[in-house]
Amino acid sequence: MPCPFHQKQPDPFVDARRVDGVLVNEFQGNPVPMLLRHEAVRQAARNWEQFSSDAPFKVPIPTEENVRTVRQLPLEVDPPAQQEYRTLVEPFFNRAKRPEVVAQVEALVANLIHDALGRAEIEVVREFAIPLQSRSLACLLNMPQSEAGIWIGWGLHVFREGEGERKGSALEHYNNGLLDRAAAAPGEDFFSALTLARFQGRPLTREEMLGYCSIVFAGGRDTIINSISGIIGHLAARPADLEFLREDPRRITGASEEFFRVLSPSTHLARKCRHATTLHGVPVAAGDFISLNFAAANYDPDVFESPEEVRLDRRPNPHVAFGFGPHLCLGAPHARLVVRTLLKTLCDRVERIEPIEVVDKYENETGYRRRLAYELLRVRLIGR
Ligand code: HEM
Repeated sequence: MPCPFHQKQPDPFVDARRVDGVLVNEFQGNPVPMLLRHEAVRQAARNWEQFSSDAPFKVPIPTEENVRTVRQLPLEVDPPAQQEYRTLVEPFFNRAKRPEVVAQVEALVANLIHDALGRAEIEVVREFAIPLQSRSLACLLNMPQSEAGIWIGWGLHVFREGEGERKGSALEHYNNGLLDRAAAAPGEDFFSALTLARFQGRPLTREEMLGYCSIVFAGGRDTIINSISGIIGHLAARPADLEFLREDPRRITGASEEFFRVLSPSTHLARKCRHATTLHGVPVAAGDFISLNFAAANYDPDVFESPEEVRLDRRPNPHVAFGFGPHLCLGAPHARLVVRTLLKTLCDRVERIEPIEVVDKYENETGYRRRLAYELLRVRLIGR
């Protein structure tokens, strides 16, 4: 089976990172220098006064002005306001560490694996990863599972796939409905918390609330889906790795980090340069955009030995899959909970995963082609 992780994970930035440290790629007709080295990415991520996130719709690449009308919070703001926006929702994101939420996600994963074991085969992306992402998000946000049923129906990317731009406005319409319901009868869920929150002594505006909703539904969706399918595909191709984890489940925490490094589900994000500068010899004008390429940084051989190899016991593993600095991913505890629970349940219940059919998923750009996870992954789970 041609599996991205069967041999080695190819690194499209290997030459540019070694030679220049920067690769200029055109996105939507604009040249964007991408920082590729681990230390350079970390330095720029810390230096928000020069490399700013105060750029509504333009931190994601490609930009999203055609698919949403609100600034994502706290992503598209700089400190110190960003820290205040972040503090306001952090308790909800940290629910992923609470025993009752851990137990809910464990039950969820156990059920999905149980169902998969009862079937001749499953298509992992649509029949496992999307339901797991949606249902576990409902646990995190303290929403009923009936609502997750709606999110499952959204498919792979809430903004871009299927109906394209119309889908983005449908999401905002849906979020407005959730916030109306929450405002009328507040409960204990994330959306109610937004309607009750106070920012700098005043309630949040509806636009600000929608900015938070946008990122919880968009930012954490394909990243989690690709992590889940990427891991299952890897374990199908390399059964010895499942055995390795089963032998000593304490290896699961480190293995999860290695999967996040190798998969790097969020390739890169943009920053707007406040002042003209030069990056490794490439001039950048004030107001122009650069990117922090987390995926390239995660394969920097100065930091990771044999970076293209999946080493489940890699230590240390200072990957930047969740970013670095003030905007470090708020959803990371949740992503870790989902992935660790998945690995633990596979070790407990699944003897092996037999691959049946695979279609790889790529990010195709003018200057590089990067393998993400799968468009389609059909497997058979064999129980223990
Ligand atoms: C494997 C899964 C994930 C990956 C690889 C990932 C990656 C990232 C990265 C690289 C950033 C840094 C952004 C920057 O520096 O501009 C980030 C920020 C963020 N992520 Fe995630 N993410 C994941 C899952 C999630 C989930 C599940 C959620 C929500 C439910 C989420 C919500 C956020 C938020 C709110 C921020 C903005 C934090 C801030 O600006 O202070 N992420 N994520």
